[in-house]
Amino acid sequence: MYQIIEKQVLTPVSKLFVIKHPQLAQKAQAGQFVIIRLHEKGERIPLTIADFDAKAGTISLVVQEVGKTSQEMGALKTSDQILDLIGPLGYASHIQNYGTVICIGGGLGIAPIYPIARALKKAGNRVLSIIGARNQELLFWEDKMRAVSDELYVVTDDGSSGHKGLVTEVQKELINKEKIQKVFAIGPAIMMKFVVETSRPHQLSTIVSLNSIMIDGTGMCGGCRVQVGGVTKFACVDGPEFEGLDVDFDNLFKRLNYYRDEEKVAIKKQHLCRLDNIK
Ligand code: FAD
Ligand code: FES
Ligand code: MG
Repeated sequence: MYQIIEKQVLTPVSKLFVIKHPQLAQKAQAGQFVIIRLHEKGERIPLTIADFDAKAGTISLVVQEVGKTSQEMGALKTSDQILDLIGPLGYASHIQNYGTVICIGGGLGIAPIYPIARALKKAGNRVLSIIGARNQELLFWEDKMRAVSDELYVVTDDGSSGHKGLVTEVQKELINKEKIQKVFAIGPAIMMKFVVETSRPHQLSTIVSLNSIMIDGTGMCGGCRVQVGGVTKFACVDGPEFEGLDVDFDNLFKRLNYYRDEEKVAIKKQHLCRLDNIK
């Protein structure tokens, strides 16, 4: 059992949990993830390690409530416990001094891009970061991202904070303005696809973190398979980061939607259970 020692509400739909796990905190690196199971009847879901503190023996997870399990997790409180938490899983981000890099975090993706931007900055890169969300209410960690970036651009769909528009508009301006060696992007699959398309005319290497459906996280079940450069890869053991220029995003979209009907039933049942408890 792993204890939650701190909980913060970051936005109306996302929460930060600091969890005691000294062993994992020692080993964690930017880009890696964990698989959690909240309780005995719970399903396994992957979550990126958004931060880690080897000294304190803690890791941080940021959860966006999109369905049954993420809502159950969002309802947990400080001092509650999580039954299973395995990791660190996946390869760490490849960090080196590339020169000038762009880091893009969209929505919940701001959390996983943060340790990558921090590591890139520490390795001596000039880090230009772009964080985006639908509106100001959904933005978080602007201060943390600013602290690890040479320049930070904030973008919202409705203009309620920073530049009004899409992260790709700022990405395009930056690419046209100066020589960029690499882009790192994490966010909704559709955002990552368009970030890659913005880089493609320049053949600019763009690393994306693929959020395919995962079950075991050990390369056994095949649930997370993705097509990269015409080859089948398992995001859990071969990734989760891949060269975006080679990723078949349309295949990823299809696979992400496989269980939509079952997911709808699960969330409906959960809400009905809550109503029953109220009666
Ligand atoms: P459901 O209603 O069951 O599903 C909603 C949608 O979430 C689905 O349509 C599908 O696209 C996706 N999903 C469902 N089950 C899984 C699964 N087992 N694995 C992956 N995706 C699934 N989310 C965060 O909030 N924070 C993170 O840091 C984070 N990191 C991730 C890292 C990786 C490597 C991957 C693959 C996914 C990550 N996700 C993260 C996505 C998160 O796992 C899903 O949002 C979560 O599993 C949804 O479960 P649910 O029961 O709440 O929703
Ligand atoms: Fe099972 Fe990747 S999650 S093979
Ligand atoms: Mg689910």
